[in-house]
Amino acid sequence: MRPIFTPQMMTMNESSKQALEQAEQEGKYIRKVRSFVKREGRLTKGQAAALEKCWPTLGLEHSQGLLNFNEVFGNDNDVVVEIGFGMGKSLVEMAKNNPQQNFIGIEVHRPGVGACLMEADEQGISNLRVFEHDAVEVLADCIADSSLSKLQLFFPDPWHKKRHHKRRIVQPDFVQKIRAKLKVGGVFHMATDWENYAEHMLEVMQQAEGYSNQSENNDYVPRPDFRPLTKFEQRGHRLGHGVWDLMFERTA
Ligand SMILES: C[S@@+](CC[C@H](N)C(=O)[O-])C[C@H]1O[C@@H](n2cnc3c(N)ncnc32)[C@H](O)[C@@H]1O
Repeated sequence: MRPIFTPQMMTMNESSKQALEQAEQEGKYIRKVRSFVKREGRLTKGQAAALEKCWPTLGLEHSQGLLNFNEVFGNDNDVVVEIGFGMGKSLVEMAKNNPQQNFIGIEVHRPGVGACLMEADEQGISNLRVFEHDAVEVLADCIADSSLSKLQLFFPDPWHKKRHHKRRIVQPDFVQKIRAKLKVGGVFHMATDWENYAEHMLEVMQQAEGYSNQSENNDYVPRPDFRPLTKFEQRGHRLGHGVWDLMFERTA
């Protein structure tokens, strides 16, 4: 993919230009539109302490490059990746309920990463690792092709306004990047409480090559028992929102 240049880059300072040039030389794709706005939320004392205590064992750095799962987890169990785990409670619960699987969570919100580590520490979880980084870059640079049994994307930012729809992470190009990382037979599992986003997800996935819908009606699936309610979902329930789960298997 060719890098995209924006008008703002004309006024870049020298170090940004060098970073851009280096990224270009390394063949990295410079994205103009991101799916998140970095919120500088404060860390609680507990989150800060968990980051300090658990990062050396449970934290993964984007700069490490391509991961060898066997080295990371010390076994060759299936690996499930979750993008945008929020505060991580449901991810930790899944890791606890499925000790025969390995989990990697990716989140950009530092207090969320801290909260997830705190919960993992309290629960004594060893089959979970986390990145504090943009998932699109982590997928591109750290996850080997055809290596995942599942990719979870629960309640991604819905970007309600039409002019912001381009920020939605689920786009034709993105779902093909996910497909490349899944094993054949691996599953891309999404959930949202925003009907318009559910319809968008379905439309993108129905047109995507190499996937088959696991829904009997070729649309949504009931929430599987193995997916715990997320924090965001519980808030949605209180507001009377519906929830749509989509599960697509990589077929080719
Ligand atoms: C609406 S919240 C949902 C959180 C959680 N899944 C839940 O259901 O409670 C979406 C989360 O995705 C994260 N996010 C958005 N884009 C991301 C990206 N490209 N990489 C990593 N995290 C991302 C945001 O920081 C936010 O915490």
